[in-house]
Amino acid sequence: MIFWLTVLIILALTGLFLYWQLIIAEGAYLGARVVAFTYDCVAEKYNNIKEFEDKFEDFAIGVPIANRFHRQPKGMILDIATGTGRVPLALMRQTSYRGQIIGLDRASRMLSVAHRDTVTLDKRVILIQADAMALPFADNSFPMVTCLEALEFMPSPEQGLREMVRVLAPTTHRHPDQGWLFTSNRIGWEARLMPGKTWSTEQLRAILEKLPLRYIDITPWESIYDMVWAQKIANGE
Ligand SMILES: C[S@@+](CC[C@H](N)C(=O)[O-])C[C@H]1O[C@@H](n2cnc3c(N)ncnc32)[C@H](O)[C@@H]1O
Repeated sequence: MIFWLTVLIILALTGLFLYWQLIIAEGAYLGARVVAFTYDCVAEKYNNIKEFEDKFEDFAIGVPIANRFHRQPKGMILDIATGTGRVPLALMRQTSYRGQIIGLDRASRMLSVAHRDTVTLDKRVILIQADAMALPFADNSFPMVTCLEALEFMPSPEQGLREMVRVLAPTTHRHPDQGWLFTSNRIGWEARLMPGKTWSTEQLRAILEKLPLRYIDITPWESIYDMVWAQKIANGE
């Protein structure tokens, strides 16, 4: 009797552990390869699972990005962890924006879905397979960098932020509208089950201030994410 009870407890604990690691944390503690594999497994179903609606995506993502680019509508944007191309697709629906966007992700099948849905967009969406921990771009390359719903799955979310800010061109007197970072912060009860991968609003604000970013705006967005906007300033300003 005690033997079977022990077996049952071990099985239950193993099940809970696997649920935590693979379903809630989506492999985040097991390395970038496991995360990419997890997303590749669901790539074809991802858009249906997320139930994206154009109207909401335009309101929350496409329009705010395009508006910040009204002075340089051809400025190039980098979307890190682009997945199936959510940000590129929302941006390409905005007629005021006429530039190109690079969508970067580690998961090849997520990028295949993104390619299928953006291939008709006249080469304005460029897809690259790479790791967000070491971006293959020079410092200060992009007037805007975006990364939605992905930081918490990276090996080091703080290094992910540092890389985003490194490749982001700071705002200048000539280009006061550049230097924008648009990202998300995981909230809710699941965020508390991902220690070391998520931050409280205060913790995130402190990290962003040091990078150095200003005009930090962290506002409620989806039930499990806050939306984060901030602008990079040149060192010493
Ligand atoms: C929840 S999806 C978000 C996709 C898209 N940004 C969206 O909002 O629909 C998370 C994405 O992050 C990507 N990702 C996670 N860790 C990564 C890393 N270290 N480098 C590049 N991409 C990564 C995954 O492959 C996946 O496509």
